Amino acid sequence: MKKAMRLTTAIVLALACAIGVSTAGESMPGADADALWQYITKTSPYEKWEFWPGYDGIYPGKSPHGAFLKLYANPPAIEAARAGKPMPDGAIIVKENYGKDKKSLMAVTPMYKIKGYNPDGGDWYWAKYKADGTVDAAGQPKGCISCHSVKKDSDWLFTEPK
Ligand code: HEC
Repeated sequence: MKKAMRLTTAIVLALACAIGVSTAGESMPGADADALWQYITKTSPYEKWEFWPGYDGIYPGKSPHGAFLKLYANPPAIEAARAGKPMPDGAIIVKENYGKDKKSLMAVTPMYKIKGYNPDGGDWYWAKYKADGTVDAAGQPKGCISCHSVKKDSDWLFTEPK
C-alpha cells in the first residue's frame, strides 16, 4: 500500500513537472540569428502578433528601410509600448520591409531585447534577413546601431507607439 502511494506521488510529481514545463511557454532564443528566425517564424510566428500600437497594416517607410513597412511586436513588447515603458527582456519587434509595389518582401529586420547582451547598445540584438530567412546581418551590426543611436533616449526606437 505504501509502495503504491509512493508510486502515485511520483507519477503526480512527474506530471506536474511536465505540465509546468509546457505551460511555462516556449523558451526564448539566444543571441543567434538562426535561432531567432526559427522562433519568429515557427515557434511564435510574428504574423500572429499584434502590430506596433498605431501602425496597423502597411505604411510608408524611409531609406534605408523599405518603401513600405509592417511593424509587429510580441506580447511583452506590445504591453510595454502601451504602458509607455522601455522594452523588457524578451521583447521582439519585427519589421517587414516591402518594395514600392507594397508586395515584394525585401527584408525582415527584427530587434530583440536580451538583458545583458549589449548594455552600451540598449541590449538590442539586431538582425536582417532575406524573405527566405537567409541572414544578411546579425548581432551588433555597426550600421543599425550607429543610425539608431540618435534614438538612444527612446530605447533606440524611431517609431513611437501611438
Ligand atoms: C540610416 C539609418 C538607419 C539604419 C542604418 C537602420 N535603421 Fe532601422 N530605422 C531607421 C528609421 C528612420 C526607422 C523608422 C521607420 C522608417 O521610417 O523607416 C527605423 C525603424 C526600425 C525598426 C522599427 C522600430 C523603430 O526603431 O522605429 C526596426 C526594428 C529597425 N529599424 C531595425 C533595424 C535594423 C535591424 C538595422 C540594421 C540591419 C537598421 N534598423 C538599420 C533608421 C535606420
